[in-house]
Amino acid sequence: MPVKVRRRDFLKMVGAGGVAATLLGIAPPIIRYIVPPVLRGEMPRSQLVWEDCSPVKASELEPNTHYLFYYPLVDTINVVLKLVTPSGKPIRIPEMRVPTQMDPAYEPPAWLDAELSEEEIKRLENFSKGSFYTYPPGVGPDGNIVAYNLICQHLGCPYPALRYYPPGTPIATNPPEIGANGGVLHCLCHGSAYDPSRGAIVLTPPTVRPQPAVKLEWDPNTDYLYAVDMVGPTINGKVCNTCGKTVGDKVVVAVNREPEKKTC
Ligand code: FES
Repeated sequence: MPVKVRRRDFLKMVGAGGVAATLLGIAPPIIRYIVPPVLRGEMPRSQLVWEDCSPVKASELEPNTHYLFYYPLVDTINVVLKLVTPSGKPIRIPEMRVPTQMDPAYEPPAWLDAELSEEEIKRLENFSKGSFYTYPPGVGPDGNIVAYNLICQHLGCPYPALRYYPPGTPIATNPPEIGANGGVLHCLCHGSAYDPSRGAIVLTPPTVRPQPAVKLEWDPNTDYLYAVDMVGPTINGKVCNTCGKTVGDKVVVAVNREPEKKTC
């Protein structure tokens, strides 16, 4: 026997169905707004290019000069440096083990020599807390081109608070021998300093972690440079180094300022 539905009940059912359909339609964007999606991507392989989109060549880089670029995320700023001593001698950067975190009691040596002595390595190991990671060698014809993230590992001050100072630049908070060889990465916020010629190891506190390094590749046939990976601690303020919008296959480089955010 057919069930009779009164007109009023029918209209109520239609109304309830409409409300449910509307809620289902608007719920996903509201949830996405409250809980933003975390985009996780592969680490990009990105060629370094100038703002006119022409390739950056290793031979074009001036020594001890700030070249800035974003990698691996569109909002994570880095510096690429071609390091030389005050007399102009290229500082060949070897592969090395860098402690992921230092004991706050650690006092670094002056770091004047190109090679770490066995004794210094022992000292580092005694003061390091936890693990070491392998820092890649410098690239380019002289093995002296390196790149580091410029968001401070202490409390996250970004460039220009954290920036590179060439050898001989006086910095009030640093002993004069620090950075005498290859300069320093120094943060104005609270005075942390890192050694760019040694994997951005900690030179002065309050930071206890080194700056993450961008792994570079150099093509000896074309002289072109590529950013291919990150090593060291996770970029300050990020859940992971690829959590967010990653850069494309070309990243724009600018001298002494943040580059244009453009696509080549
Ligand atoms: S944020 Fe750089 S030293 Fe504190």
